[in-house]
Amino acid sequence: MFRALLTSRLQAAFTAAGIQLPEGFSVSVVIASDTRYGDYQSNAAMTLAKQLKTNPRALAQQVADKLDVTDLCSKTSIDGPGFLNFTLSAEALAQRLALITQDDHFGVPQVEQTKRIVIDFSAPNIAKPMHVGHIRSTFIGDSLARVARFVGHDVITDNHIGDWGTQFGMILHGWKTILDHEALDKDPIQELVRVYKAVNAQTKADEAVLTTCRNELVKLQQGDPDNMEIWTRCVALSLEQLRQIYGQLDVHFDHYLGESAYNDKLAPLVEDLLTNGIAEISDGATCVFFRDVPELADKPCLIRKSDGGFLYATTDLATIDHRINDWMADEIWYVVGAPQELHFRQLFQVAKKRGQTTRMQHIAFGSILGQDGKMFKTRSGESVGLLEVLDEAVERAAAVVAEREGLTDLEKTQIAEVIGTGAVKYAELSQHRMTDYKFSWDKMLALQGNTAPYLINAYVRTKSIFRKLDGEVTLTPDLTITEAAERALAIKLAQFAETTHDVLLDFRPNLLASYLYELADTYHSFYEACNVLRSEGAVRNTRLTLCEATSRVLKAGLGLLGIRTTERM
Ligand code: ARG
Repeated sequence: MFRALLTSRLQAAFTAAGIQLPEGFSVSVVIASDTRYGDYQSNAAMTLAKQLKTNPRALAQQVADKLDVTDLCSKTSIDGPGFLNFTLSAEALAQRLALITQDDHFGVPQVEQTKRIVIDFSAPNIAKPMHVGHIRSTFIGDSLARVARFVGHDVITDNHIGDWGTQFGMILHGWKTILDHEALDKDPIQELVRVYKAVNAQTKADEAVLTTCRNELVKLQQGDPDNMEIWTRCVALSLEQLRQIYGQLDVHFDHYLGESAYNDKLAPLVEDLLTNGIAEISDGATCVFFRDVPELADKPCLIRKSDGGFLYATTDLATIDHRINDWMADEIWYVVGAPQELHFRQLFQVAKKRGQTTRMQHIAFGSILGQDGKMFKTRSGESVGLLEVLDEAVERAAAVVAEREGLTDLEKTQIAEVIGTGAVKYAELSQHRMTDYKFSWDKMLALQGNTAPYLINAYVRTKSIFRKLDGEVTLTPDLTITEAAERALAIKLAQFAETTHDVLLDFRPNLLASYLYELADTYHSFYEACNVLRSEGAVRNTRLTLCEATSRVLKAGLGLLGIRTTERM
């Protein structure tokens, strides 16, 4: 990618000019925000001159004299107080463009060091409604997994399902008293949630029900065969339906290792932590204290309650062991909402005490709000489940597609599915993950603006050009980029490489979303400025190649967000 190439050339120029770089000083080149002076820009000379207390322009000149970028740039210049500006040459751009249409990775370089990364995302809880937090986690996690794989990492996706919580006390009691078997067959998740809520309400009104539920839970934990059987069925039924939803969403997991998978690891783990002096007994409970970490000094991590029960954190510690010891994870990423920040901070501290050096990252996110700015709820005031959202999205997309002409009913149904799910995913992924965003059907389904329908439509338009040509085109590598609009598009296309890598720096798929939106806009400007079909020879070949490359990058980029495209719409 140009940014990396220019950075290494600039570094080499500093060395060649005999300039010693101070410890920790990194020479960086960025995409120019103002393209009047060039396509890429570096303020390295200015920053360094400040540190060395010398003249920035003179320093920049010294470096520029040694700069060897003739194969990449048609012009380099020193502007303003000492900015180094780089203008890419038409040849270099043409080469890139050809690469984008030929290379499996569209010119996006592979990482130098492949890492094994375990990504923990989605992780709903059995018999509890999947809420918007799970929606965000599912989309962000899936996109990060796709990007990490695409750039060459070895990714393991693991759905750490909440299949062993205290909710099962209520579920077991409800299963035995109020379960509607027919409803269970039809929609197990919904029926289990109904049962859970109903029993939960009963426990509030009647102390005795609460005791019964607790007893059911204890029996389950002790391995009572009847309760185990019910539990197994609950998990199996829910998983089956979840897999179906994930299938519809095109989200895939390598493993579904829920919390229950670690049950028999918990007691030995706590023993081990006690023996090693990492944990201690305090008021009958087992805790890990962080006396040397100021912000956690009064926030110990509880790993075994005084009644002997284990906790969410205990399971997570056992899970870390598994991921490190059996999967050889180099990194573990947790895509979980911001409210669990403390949990992960504690977890990572315990891991540190245990000498586990694997990089662990909590990838947090904010909430989704309704139009009223409060937590997103359905009309009946329930928290919104993923299924309802998806169904409604597809239904609304179908209404948009219904007016289209020249499509069969089957095509319309398929398109509505792609657009509906794509719209919900894009509404999520185009936001910075830490911002709370408002869920708006009208906005996300709009054909104009920063939306999935707009981008999918842009893709369809790139394709329709080739349909008009009836397949009678062979693109050749002789490209001549002359017009400003062609150049702007070629540069945008080339920047797919930088953007894709940048997504993983701070785990931000929204960078890719913004990029794709800009690309679609740049494409439209190009299409207006440059006639494609009526041009000839090398010009036509170049323009068609630009269309083809745009088509490929839009499809691949949306694909990295987990969004499918359609050929018509
Ligand atoms: N089931 C949890 C919840 O719904 C999320 C689990 C996240 N992953 C983890 N390893 N703790 O809040």
